[in-house]
Amino acid sequence: MSGAAADATPFLPERLSMKALREAAAECRGCGLWEDATQVVFGAGPPRSARMVLVGEQPGDREDRAGEPFVGPAGRVLDRALSDAGIERRETYVTNAVKHFKWRPAGKRRLHQSPNAEEIRSCRPWLDAELAVVKPEVVVALGATAAKALFGPSFRVTRDRGKFVESELAAHATATMHPSSLLRIDDPEERRIAEGELAADLARAAGKLSEA
Ligand code: URA
Ligand code: SF4
Repeated sequence: MSGAAADATPFLPERLSMKALREAAAECRGCGLWEDATQVVFGAGPPRSARMVLVGEQPGDREDRAGEPFVGPAGRVLDRALSDAGIERRETYVTNAVKHFKWRPAGKRRLHQSPNAEEIRSCRPWLDAELAVVKPEVVVALGATAAKALFGPSFRVTRDRGKFVESELAAHATATMHPSSLLRIDDPEERRIAEGELAADLARAAGKLSEA
């Protein structure tokens, strides 16, 4: 096929193991986002035992520096929601739809920029490979970017969050709001309600796990 658009596929390792994937992703040039980022932020969590995969949008400023997903302010919101839902984060595999931080300078700060459809598509082979290795029972998309990437462009988080959808990715698949969106709610009461909804969606997802 001539003129095929570039994506991450040529950078995938031959053998799909989490270690090989992580090492290979560090060298990915599947789109332009690696250039301005500090490092790749691959997924984190126990690949063999994790039964739930959580998929965010892309690393933020703190994640870019640390090389780990959801360790900044959004990560604290996620940690709290997981804990309220009775889920141990260290038993889940947490990753992002896009593995490099996209930003633009604003004075001394680096402002988050949403990845575009092309970047999300280019990065998709990594997410598919992670899911192929982890083989989760439940996949949860966090926010609109991940939900559209996983379930298609017609998925609306505001309308469809908390619903379970048919997906080849896992026996159970659902989406909820992005933890960062909660940080943007100024009204304390509204924020508390949203926190409760996020935790409830996560608890419902955990409820789909078979008895171990
Ligand atoms: N937001 C995301 O979507 N992912 C992270 O890892 C951090 C913030
Ligand atoms: Fe590769 Fe994804 Fe990084 Fe683009 S964002 S360079 S596709 S890892």
